[in-house]
Amino acid sequence: MSAPTSAIAQQDPSLSPTLPLAGKRVVVVGGKTGIGLGVAKAAHAAGATLIVASRRIESAEARPALAHFTQVVLDMRDESSVRAAFETIGTLDHLVVTASPDLGSWGSFMDADMQGVRSYMEGKFLGSWASARHAAPRLRAGGSITFLTGGLAVRPKPGFAAATSAFGAVEALSGSLALELAATRVNTIRPGFIDTEMWSFLPTEHRDGLRQRVAEAFPV
Ligand SMILES: NC(=O)c1ccc[n+]([C@@H]2O[C@H](COP(=O)([O-])OP(=O)(O)OC[C@H]3O[C@@H](n4cnc5c(N)ncnc54)[C@H](OP(=O)(O)O)[C@@H]3O)[C@@H](O)[C@H]2O)c1
Repeated sequence: MSAPTSAIAQQDPSLSPTLPLAGKRVVVVGGKTGIGLGVAKAAHAAGATLIVASRRIESAEARPALAHFTQVVLDMRDESSVRAAFETIGTLDHLVVTASPDLGSWGSFMDADMQGVRSYMEGKFLGSWASARHAAPRLRAGGSITFLTGGLAVRPKPGFAAATSAFGAVEALSGSLALELAATRVNTIRPGFIDTEMWSFLPTEHRDGLRQRVAEAFPV
C-alpha cells in the first residue's frame, strides 16, 4: 500500500504541487556546503527539485542534509567537466552558482603566487562563466541565473587582490548576461560575512576574532 500523497509531500516538499517552486528544477553549483546548501534547502522547502554540483559526491548517510538532492560532479576550473555536468542535468529553471575555490591567503599582491591566483580566477570567474554558458541553452522560459560575489568587490582589503578581481569580473559578467540572455534574469548577490567553512583557512583564534568583530558590528 502506498503512503498518502500529503504524507509523502511532508517528507519531500518537491512532491507538493502547491508550493511556490513546485515543478521547478533548481541547480546549485556549490550546493553541498555553506551558502549554497542554505539556498538548496530553502528552494527544496519551497517545492523545487534540487540538483547540487561540486567536485565530490557525498553519501546521504554521512550528510543527511543532502538526502533529497541529486548530486552531480563538476569542477569549476575545468570547462569540459562543467559541460558534461550540464549535459547530465538537462533542462532546468534556475541556476545558482555559489561555488568558489578556497579563498586562500596568498599574502600581498607582490608576494602572491601566480599559479594560485590563476587557479582562483579560473574557478571563480571562468567557472561562473562556464556554468552560465552551459546552463543557458537548457533554461526554461522564466528562468534565472544567480552568481555570488562578496563585499570585497567594492571594499578591497589588502591581501585579497585575486578574490577582489574575480568578484569584480563576475559582477561585470552578470550585467552583460542580463542583456545578452534576456529575458532570463541574471543577478549577482554580494553577501556580507556568513560563518561557513569558507573561513576555515583562518587559524582558529583569527576566525573566533572575526566572528566576534562581526557580531559586535552588525545590528542584527
Ligand atoms: N561565507 C562568507 O562569509 C562569504 C562572504 C562573502 C562572499 N561569499 C561568497 O559566497 C560564495 C560561497 O561561500 P560559502 O561560504 O558558501 O563557501 P563554502 O562553504 O566554502 O562552499 C564553497 C563550495 O564550493 C565548492 N567548490 C570549491 N571548489 C570547487 C570547484 N573547483 N568546482 C566546483 N565546486 C567547488 C565546494 O564543494 P566541493 O569541495 O565538494 O567541491 C563548496 O561546496 C563564495 O564564492 C564567496 O564568493 C561568502
